[in-house]
Amino acid sequence: MCGIVAFVGTRPASPVLVEGLRKLEYRGYDSAGVAVHAGGDLAIVRAVGKLSNLDAALAKAPLAGTVGIGHTRWATHGRPSEANAHPHVSGPVAVVHNGIIENHVALRHELEASGVVFASDTDTEIVAHLVSRALAAGAGSLEAAVTAALGRVTGAYAIAVLSKTEPDVIVLAKDQSPLVLGIGEGELIAASDIPAILSTTRDVVFLQDGEMAILRRTGATFEAKLRTVSGEPVTRAPKRIDWSPAQAEKGGFKHFMLKEIHEQPRAIEDTLRGRIDLTAGDVVSQELGLEDAIATSIDRVYFVACGTSAHAAMAGRYWVEALARVPATVEIGSEVRYREPVFTPRDLVIAVSQSGETSDTLAAVKAARAGGARVLAIANVLDSAIPRASDGAFYTHAGPEIGVASTKCFTTQLAAMLMFAVWLGRRRGSLSVERAKSVLEALTHVPSLMREALEDDASIRLLAKRHLKARDMLFLGRGIGFPIALEGALKVKEISYVHAEGYAAGEMKHGPIALIDDAMPVVVVCPRDGHFEKTASNLAEVRAREGQIIAVGTKGDEELANLVAKHEGDLVTVPPSAPEVVHLLTVLPLQLLSYHMADLKGTDVDQPRNLAKTVTVE
Ligand code: M6R
Repeated sequence: MCGIVAFVGTRPASPVLVEGLRKLEYRGYDSAGVAVHAGGDLAIVRAVGKLSNLDAALAKAPLAGTVGIGHTRWATHGRPSEANAHPHVSGPVAVVHNGIIENHVALRHELEASGVVFASDTDTEIVAHLVSRALAAGAGSLEAAVTAALGRVTGAYAIAVLSKTEPDVIVLAKDQSPLVLGIGEGELIAASDIPAILSTTRDVVFLQDGEMAILRRTGATFEAKLRTVSGEPVTRAPKRIDWSPAQAEKGGFKHFMLKEIHEQPRAIEDTLRGRIDLTAGDVVSQELGLEDAIATSIDRVYFVACGTSAHAAMAGRYWVEALARVPATVEIGSEVRYREPVFTPRDLVIAVSQSGETSDTLAAVKAARAGGARVLAIANVLDSAIPRASDGAFYTHAGPEIGVASTKCFTTQLAAMLMFAVWLGRRRGSLSVERAKSVLEALTHVPSLMREALEDDASIRLLAKRHLKARDMLFLGRGIGFPIALEGALKVKEISYVHAEGYAAGEMKHGPIALIDDAMPVVVVCPRDGHFEKTASNLAEVRAREGQIIAVGTKGDEELANLVAKHEGDLVTVPPSAPEVVHLLTVLPLQLLSYHMADLKGTDVDQPRNLAKTVTVE
């Protein structure tokens, strides 16, 4: 959702801010703005729409200062407009904010009653007025004024604040919205996410909930002071991030999504590295962040996640049940709070989240811990909120995922979950060493099989062209093929704006079959995964209603090739593999199909309309 960048240095701030905001575009936004200290004043430029509009506005009114804040806004309170774009100003103060001020209605009434005239519909403007009033009331410093203002607001926030009264200072604070501080050479930068700071520094400090950072330039000295909102000093050494700036670039691909699809073999290698002991047929415990004893003390695994991560969790459920023989369930993050779920100390909750910041998943983690459950996070972003709120973290190491449509994070989540299921099964005695070895070995072959599968990119583009006019699509799968079908449908919806439904193949007769006619492409995920015969029978049922078949099967499967030919369908194949890992491959053609449909339609592939990469609001 919204993105924040703040910079204190000696070079002009505005290009650094805009470059940082560009790296946060993937989070989703509809307007943008910057504020920079300039000649004793604050210069502010805002624009609706893409950053190119802000660029154009800045070209007309270049900003010279070296201290500033920037923001991309994803509208919550108030429509996208220049007036609602951040920074918001009150007296000497300018504020950018990510999150939601929950008591904004009461505070707005109170401020209006005392004579404040609002310039926007946003909740953020309240913060600007509160800070400005605190300064006017004699707070003595911007730090003290922000502290006073934060005492009045409830909700989720990451904020960056400037004041004309202190031209060398930026005050930052966070609660439930991400904020990371970068310590550069003679400069300081802060942002909502790591890619925005990588070209300045890789030495970062993750701010935690309830903390503030005061960035100050004194002559040639730069200082970042950390403290809690309640005033206790915080000391935290910077961590070195192993993501390179190049990983956050397109690297010659037309879109980040396409690059990330093709990065999957490398991403899986990174997820597996150092975690598999093939000789012992086991997964290295220390990597999971959970003590072995947990494996035998639990009665249930309860996955919680949203969107694509929930689809990965559904696959995880199959593996946990099949390999570890532990009852497993999956709950959508946003529904947990409406379920009054019963958590006990005998539950292991696995929170799956690429960003590690999804607010619904985070709320579920908190509910689980309150109920006494142990929580393991499977996340991609180091030190993000969900891993921090959990007992252990198993990182996917996929590198930065910039495209809003998740791809490499999905398959690395699958790899992490399969490793987890093996770890659990070995400790519970439900999985023999031999079977564990064969599953883990199959996993190590996945990167090279993925490389082979991705060679079909060009033929999948032709397939996308043939089905470009489709208004609706159906995706069917059985077993783990079912979450893969859901994921294929989600990808198509998200980026090509074609209505698509994912269904368990066995459910087709219970409703969706009524939708099938000659205008309906039906993607059937039917590799040799142990369910082939049953799923293949769906092909005939689809064709009998004149649906257009797109089958995803195993290379060299003559029976499938003949069936598809008989039904005048299209066949896409993935290389033969062990059944346990085949669906790390079947999802690849579905990702490519959705990508090419979207690209051929000319949609904004990396930043599809209305979507945000990190959903930090309920
Ligand atoms: O960061 P998370 O994995 O927690 O995000 C969950 C969903 O918002 C996310 O997977 C969303 O569905 C993606 N846009 C899918 O492509």
